[in-house]
Amino acid sequence: MQDYKEFIAETLINEKTLKRRIKELGKQISRDYANEDLLLICILRGGIVFMVDLMRHITVPHAVDCMALTSYGVGARESSGNIRMSLDLQTNIENKNVLLVEDIVDSGHTLTHVLEMLRTRHPKSLKVCALLDKEERREIPVPIDYRGFSIPNKFVFGYGLDLDEYYRNLPFIAVVDLKKYKHPA
Ligand code: PRP
Repeated sequence: MQDYKEFIAETLINEKTLKRRIKELGKQISRDYANEDLLLICILRGGIVFMVDLMRHITVPHAVDCMALTSYGVGARESSGNIRMSLDLQTNIENKNVLLVEDIVDSGHTLTHVLEMLRTRHPKSLKVCALLDKEERREIPVPIDYRGFSIPNKFVFGYGLDLDEYYRNLPFIAVVDLKKYKHPA
């Protein structure tokens, strides 16, 4: 595997800026859900790094669960709009305040699908917290209640977002130089 330094075009959001913003989001969520029961739902796999950091800044008692969906074909870099649920929740969300935690909203197909599906399970409330919003790419409007950053239409990786499943561990969001990045064999 290549070292990311071989193909990084720029750091879009550095570690310090991410930390600061996530702390703010945690505070805002804690205020909004004061005296309310809360369930955070992480959309795997991209959302996991964000959720783990965010929940440590949420001071109200809350439960967590995860679900997995796939919206991109293997090896593809565009959303197909073709969503599959590959892992369902372990929690009954009926009458619960649900906050979905996503790493990025791109076309909006994934969130639209998840919201529609979860609404049929009758939560008390259903909101969305997305770290990154690539609004230029939106094909379906989606409500984002808590937004970390609006970002330009650049191919990003790190902090949960992968390049062919790697580099999710990087503590910052970076832009890839696709001319230098070698697709793993
Ligand atoms: C990414 C991201 C969102 C979705 C956003 O997931 O985590 O779930 O794409 O795209 P959309 O708005 O165009 O639907 P991906 O399918 O790459 O899976 P991953 O989280 O496991 O990397």
